[in-house]
Amino acid sequence: MPVQPSPHIRSTSPPTAAPSAVVATLRAAGCVFAEDEAELLAATARTPAELTAMVDRRAAGLPLEHVLGWAEFCGLRVAVDPGVFVPRRRTEFLVHRAAALARPRSVVVDLCCGSGALGAALDEALGGVELHAADIDPAAVACARRNLAALGGRVYRGDLYEPLPAALRGRVDVLLANVPYVPTGDITLLPPEARLHEARVALDGGADGLAVLRRVAAGAPLWLAPGGRLLFETSGRQVPSAVGIVTGAGLVPEVAVCEELDATVVVATRPPGRPSVRADRADRADRADRVDRVDRGDRVDRADRVGRVPPYGAGGAASGGRPGG
Ligand SMILES: C[S@@+](CC[C@H](N)C(=O)[O-])C[C@H]1O[C@@H](n2cnc3c(N)ncnc32)[C@H](O)[C@@H]1O
Repeated sequence: MPVQPSPHIRSTSPPTAAPSAVVATLRAAGCVFAEDEAELLAATARTPAELTAMVDRRAAGLPLEHVLGWAEFCGLRVAVDPGVFVPRRRTEFLVHRAAALARPRSVVVDLCCGSGALGAALDEALGGVELHAADIDPAAVACARRNLAALGGRVYRGDLYEPLPAALRGRVDVLLANVPYVPTGDITLLPPEARLHEARVALDGGADGLAVLRRVAAGAPLWLAPGGRLLFETSGRQVPSAVGIVTGAGLVPEVAVCEELDATVVVATRPPGRPSVRADRADRADRADRVDRVDRGDRVDRADRVGRVPPYGAGGAASGGRPGG
């Protein structure tokens, strides 16, 4: 049966002419692509009053995608709620790599799913997959549920693998994991749109940016089917460490680079056969660590406690130049 597109995922519509006053306001606010943004805002606003309010929010520094309520990703319009990570154009490369490796009806898990854009795009590219997505941030989970409902995707809330149904163990063909990978010390260097308007939990990858990846890699061999693949994005600088992490977890890495999108993706394959004892031990250690943190009173569900500091702007899908960015 063909997969019906979600009402929140629409193909792009033709631009609407924007009043020159809108262009002037956006330009004065520092928007580099004021004409393009004005057209998008004019095409999205349902009334002149709504357009004025949207232009004001954009001029005040909100990411264009949060003002529009959607981002374009792999040719889809994906709903993006306030505070939820804006899917980046760069990440389309990860979806293209996954699409080249998977088949229709593959079992796909989108860990750290944010808006659910990656799973939605892969489902579209393959003409339907068995889609599961999870995120720790309640706002992201609500947004992904809206985006994936019509695709039959299931969305769970919790810490990495913890909320996934046990029946998925050893069955996952494609594990998408665009984890946060900005080193904590570099967060201050991010453009304000990201720093101030996306949740900290979506950005902060710990001291070296690889803390969440370590935990994802540790669990991956137990969830992947033999021959299944974990795909994640990383920075060029992080590649040697990231490759070491997945190799240590018993996976076989390959690095793919797209210069046009400035994207680096690691594809890590679970070899045939049973997961190694080491992988099982690493997964248990991660689970024990989580239990310890809960016992100590740390909230594992960090999204509830990490403040939504007001925006970031690392090249969201719909916009290019940002006020103050
Ligand atoms: C860089 S964003 C990527 C979102 C989405 N995959 C995309 O590319 O648009 C990282 C996401 O990971 C989620 N996240 C961070 N730590 C997590 C954890 N321990 N368990 C589940 N999700 C987590 C954040 O809430 C955020 O939505």
